[in-house]
Amino acid sequence: MKRLILGFALLLSLSAARADEGMWLPCLIADRIDDMRAKGFRLSAEEIYSINQASMKDAVVLFNGGCTGELISPEGLLLTNHHCGYGAIQSHSTVEHDYLTNGFWARSRAEELPNERLWVRFLVRMEEVTDRLAAGETKEAICKEAEEGGRYRAAIEQMYYGNQQFLFVYEQFDDVRLVAAPPSAIGKFGGDTDNWMWPRHTGDFSLFRIYAGADNRPAKYSPDNVPYRPARFFPISTKGLAEGDFTMIYGFPGNTQQYVTADAVAYVVERSDPMKIDLRTRRLEIISAAQEADAATRIRYAAKHAAIANSWKKWQGELLGLQRLGTVEKRRAYEKRFAQWAAERPEYGHLLDSLHAAYLGAAEEYYRQELYNESVRAIELLSVASAMKQASDKMPDGFEARLAKFYRDYDPAIDRRIAKALLHGLEEYHPQPVPQAYRDEVERCGGIDAYVDHLFDASAFGSFEEAQALLRDTTALAAACAQEPVLKLAEWFPRKRIPRNLSNLPAIERWYRPYMKALREFDTDRAFYPDANLTLRVAYGAMSGYWYADAVYHRPLTTIDGIIAKDDPAIYDYNIPQRLRECYASKDYGQWGIPAADGSVTVPVCFLATNHTTGGNSGSPVINARGELVGINFDRTWRSTMSDLEFDPDICRNIAVDIRYVLFVIDRIGDASYLLDEMVLH
Ligand code: ARG
Ligand code: GLU
Repeated sequence: MKRLILGFALLLSLSAARADEGMWLPCLIADRIDDMRAKGFRLSAEEIYSINQASMKDAVVLFNGGCTGELISPEGLLLTNHHCGYGAIQSHSTVEHDYLTNGFWARSRAEELPNERLWVRFLVRMEEVTDRLAAGETKEAICKEAEEGGRYRAAIEQMYYGNQQFLFVYEQFDDVRLVAAPPSAIGKFGGDTDNWMWPRHTGDFSLFRIYAGADNRPAKYSPDNVPYRPARFFPISTKGLAEGDFTMIYGFPGNTQQYVTADAVAYVVERSDPMKIDLRTRRLEIISAAQEADAATRIRYAAKHAAIANSWKKWQGELLGLQRLGTVEKRRAYEKRFAQWAAERPEYGHLLDSLHAAYLGAAEEYYRQELYNESVRAIELLSVASAMKQASDKMPDGFEARLAKFYRDYDPAIDRRIAKALLHGLEEYHPQPVPQAYRDEVERCGGIDAYVDHLFDASAFGSFEEAQALLRDTTALAAACAQEPVLKLAEWFPRKRIPRNLSNLPAIERWYRPYMKALREFDTDRAFYPDANLTLRVAYGAMSGYWYADAVYHRPLTTIDGIIAKDDPAIYDYNIPQRLRECYASKDYGQWGIPAADGSVTVPVCFLATNHTTGGNSGSPVINARGELVGINFDRTWRSTMSDLEFDPDICRNIAVDIRYVLFVIDRIGDASYLLDEMVLH
């Protein structure tokens, strides 16, 4: 009997895991609510999204166009990731006040720091407008009406490659102030080494506050503004989750392509990912070697290294994942079945052929642009020269300050080495012969390395002083640009704007519209959800570990003991604040302590769950069955990253920082328990 029950439970949990794929539209969440409740959710669809009453969506924001944030107090207190607030934290940091290194804790509202060009957006409502558009209304007219004379911002986004159109109405706030950030040794603990990895111990959070005018409406920054009073905020659960407990993520995932054909997946697996990974490996090797040789370089190139390495690691996981799953072959088999079904339907019979032909016609140009981005366009001298050339036409505001900032973190010797490596790479990966003029010039110089030396030796922009002097004399600047050899390189490899995926090229996308429609008629058992496009979505699943390898199970919760095990004052990314060491030594965790496996006491740090997430979901609230905040999403494991094309319920896990660790750090490391007073802790 016991075995039977166990077997049944296993079956249940397997089928539960199956359904964790999906990023659902909040306004249609009623379609999923039965499934969610079967998996443990206790609330109603109306509590997630409603246009009649305050609902959870009123506590979620798009944070500065690339991350998610959530409200956690009636006074506009907002939580997001440290890596999402990084730019703001950095911009307030100086040698005297190094908030990146030491952390920042506003001791009063007056100390909260305003940020230029930092905004958040609430979703006021969303609705399908496919029929209105079909009836002849224009997008402009629909948006204009929805904007109510400038009060809101409206946008129409297409779902399912344009088969459906939705209107999104947002309210944007531009006075968003920095309230607190932990030291980077907590907020970025583990750095690029631990990035995309489990077990993870990063306290990836920062706190902001939204300010509004006296009428609680958006207002430009003013010292007279007051904390925004949100329609909803998340209460916080201090009880934690157990493995298997329901989790839901509410946020703004940026980009997925779940329905693309084998040709598109093959492009990623065979061409795009391998090329991008290889070229970035070469770049990173040069930067890392320079960083190891010199402490100042390590700091100056830290942000660049992190930015290059982040996608680099993600693509490696994606490539391995797609290969392991055999996604290309699976899609081919799926398409074969589709083709049989479509053969009897004249309107659909040609679709796969049309798609295939479109890929043949368009992939080459797209690939070249990706290659240029990863080679020619990754030469920093070229970027700065292009900016100087634009400035010679029209000098942008604050250009000199931006230039100074660029050169502070720029080493022309490193850039020169990178340029050599990347132009060799360009030749190796270039699908057709490179342009004749470029070839002639390289030959004239005596090869690629000598050509690059020429670019750097003859450049007028090798240092800030040289560039700055030219800013004072626009005639001389124009003359210098006309002579600048690296700008020739930019002309030989001209940039064209490309959409975020090959499949979104208009020549290809036009066939996806009918294909997507056909798929939904063909595959009636499948639960379709639209690809991520930076619109608000709900993902649900459960806290869950996974089998990492034969006999190796990765449990879903890490603790402070794991931080101490990694602590190493000699390694930058693992050198924790002394305060944390002392807390650990005294085991003085107060109310944040939980029982450890060995009977002692510990503090939870990060956890894994099965929610389907992607870039943009950083900072998203992780919510329990009762609608309380239990964590902040900030990553996936790198082996999960193929979920942007194929979700594997056995492997795919998102990574969240446990809200109890956030509270512990605020209280014990930041000595900022007054912030807890405005939260609602359950
Ligand atoms: N991998 C996460 C994301 O894609 C976190 C990136 C920031 N952290 C870092 N160590 N680079 O954004
Ligand atoms: N760190 C990512 C972000 O900034 C989330 C990781 C992912 O791709 O899932 O959105």
